[in-house]
Amino acid sequence: MKIGKKWLAALALTVGVGLLVSACGSGSQQSSGSAAGGSAEDKVYVVGTDAAYPPFQVLEADGKITGHDIDVMNAIAEAGGFKIEWRNTGWDPLFDGLDKGTVDIGISSITITEDRKKKYDFSDSYFEANQLILVAEDSPVTKLADLQGKNIGVQAATTGEEAVKKAFGATYEGLKGYDDMPSSVDDFFNGRVDAVVGDNGVIAFYAKKNPGKTFKLVNDDSFEKEYYGVMVKKGNTEIMAKINDGLKKIKENGKLQEIYNQYFGNN
Ligand code: ARG
Repeated sequence: MKIGKKWLAALALTVGVGLLVSACGSGSQQSSGSAAGGSAEDKVYVVGTDAAYPPFQVLEADGKITGHDIDVMNAIAEAGGFKIEWRNTGWDPLFDGLDKGTVDIGISSITITEDRKKKYDFSDSYFEANQLILVAEDSPVTKLADLQGKNIGVQAATTGEEAVKKAFGATYEGLKGYDDMPSSVDDFFNGRVDAVVGDNGVIAFYAKKNPGKTFKLVNDDSFEKEYYGVMVKKGNTEIMAKINDGLKKIKENGKLQEIYNQYFGNN
């Protein structure tokens, strides 16, 4: 009898530890996001972003990612009833990550384009944007065509790059593509490029951040309206439905506008 009890206790302990281990196991699986398993409610979707695009995506000194798009996506997830975790992937690797499935959702001031729609699905739009040209204050440039023959910085594989290619040709020699936006702006202030073409919100942000420097922002009639959307791999309809549901709710309850005002309200 005594031995039997001890054995039972040992068994209980083993089972207990086993349960604990498996509980930890599923816990770590959860935090690794898109790993298979777990019920639909515990799934944590990995959201990738290029956190070098202020004030939309910002990498803080302590490693935290903040910004307009971060607030928007967090609000969408809350309203849509799903869990997310953030990953600072960078720009090109964000698209690769979606292709490979290491990233479930992309939000990074991504313009909804016909070309991207071939490989990805987009949510409804959450932000309207357009390109702007950053040039020296004393520059005679008043439109895109005036940049002919000049060195123009863009973030590679963006709509800014597309706009420059459309104007001057896909192999235009003066086109300098950077992996991230801050590098292109740095090179502008260092005099390595004569202009930068990029999204208005970001260009305007840098302009505000560098009040001592002399430059101006130039618009061009050929710049089309752009709409930012949340992006997933094509055919990922289940998560897209949740994203659009959350987005609809934060449009209706004023949360999206509130976030907009917080970042762009008193411009
Ligand atoms: N809106 C532009 C595009 O979609 C630029 C976005 C760049 N985003 C970023 N986080 N660097 O091509």
